[in-house]
Amino acid sequence: MASGFVASSGAMREALDVLARVAPSGCTVLVTGESGTGKEVVVRALHEMSPLRDGPFVAVNCGAIADNLVESELFGHARGAFTGAMTARRGYVAAAEGGTLFLDEVGELSPAAQVKLLRLLQQREYTPLGETRPVRCNVRVVAATNRDLQAEVRAGRFREDLYFRLDVVHVHLPPLRDRREEVRPLAAHFLRLSAERAGRADVIGFAPGVLELLEADDWPGNVRALENTIERAVLLSAGTEISVDDLPARFLSRAAAAAPPLPKSPRAPSRSDGRLTLPPSAGDGMIDLRAAVDALESRLIRDALERSKNNKQRAADLLGIKRTTLIDMMKRKGLAA
Ligand SMILES: Nc1ncnc2c1ncn2[C@@H]1O[C@H](COP(=O)(O)OP(=O)(O)OP(=O)(O)O)[C@@H](O)[C@H]1O
Ligand SMILES: [Mg+2]
Repeated sequence: MASGFVASSGAMREALDVLARVAPSGCTVLVTGESGTGKEVVVRALHEMSPLRDGPFVAVNCGAIADNLVESELFGHARGAFTGAMTARRGYVAAAEGGTLFLDEVGELSPAAQVKLLRLLQQREYTPLGETRPVRCNVRVVAATNRDLQAEVRAGRFREDLYFRLDVVHVHLPPLRDRREEVRPLAAHFLRLSAERAGRADVIGFAPGVLELLEADDWPGNVRALENTIERAVLLSAGTEISVDDLPARFLSRAAAAAPPLPKSPRAPSRSDGRLTLPPSAGDGMIDLRAAVDALESRLIRDALERSKNNKQRAADLLGIKRTTLIDMMKRKGLAA
């Protein structure tokens, strides 16, 4: 995980603000958000802000443990508790004593493990497999999931009582496409980190237009995908700046689409096949700049509408303008609204 983090969007600041306020209390916190949105980053920040910061931080990926082992991994087991249990083993809960237990992908827990976790949260105690006496415990439980837990509850896959126990304080991290203002500071942050890690202190910035392309992307893999993209770009970069060529191919085609080369002859006839239509030239060899820009704008608007399947808000986001501005421009240009 990267050291330090960026919190320049309203959403991220709000999340950290809530976490800072509840950090001293030790209450259970549920963090939701798509994969790669930074759930683990904020959970670690919560631990650091809490009085338990000197205690252990134990992260458990509940989805990565085999179903039949979840209980013994979490709660530990006595010697001989099941076939193969040659020695007693303490679980993650015991390892997190006096600190934070981070249950990642909590939606993946088996029904049996859910019951035990509920008891842990209700009674602050648990019984290791094969033991008869319960053990008291003092850990702060923080859970995260990229699933819709309420939907899981409705579908009968997640216990409602456990959901309410976990959902005492809920922090949701929106996808990166809904907080695009964070793309630039994140890109700059990852550039510094990656350049340092790769021994490429010579890579110090982005070529013109690159940040705009990064900002316009939808980033289905969220912050993690942006981080990987920048890391790869730093390694590929031939100069001091990251250029479009260092980005994955989809960016190159977008850059080309956004800035098509002017046709060789400025008198190229107007076309309506979706490609840039240059207006008639004002004089021999001259281009009417205003009309050319106008044509380019229309073309970008049509592209954005096509890509967003006519969703004007999405199209406006892609173009980096307000929805109302887009609608005004469409009216002015006589584009179908
Ligand atoms: N605000 C941020 N500032 C700096 N780095 C960030 C930020 N958010 C996320 N990252 C980085 O992005 C990567 C993904 O973040 P993280 O692991 O916290 O996501 P996640 O929501 O837990 O993802 P998953 O659901 O896939 O486990 C990490 O390398 C993390 O350091
Ligand atoms: Mg995670």
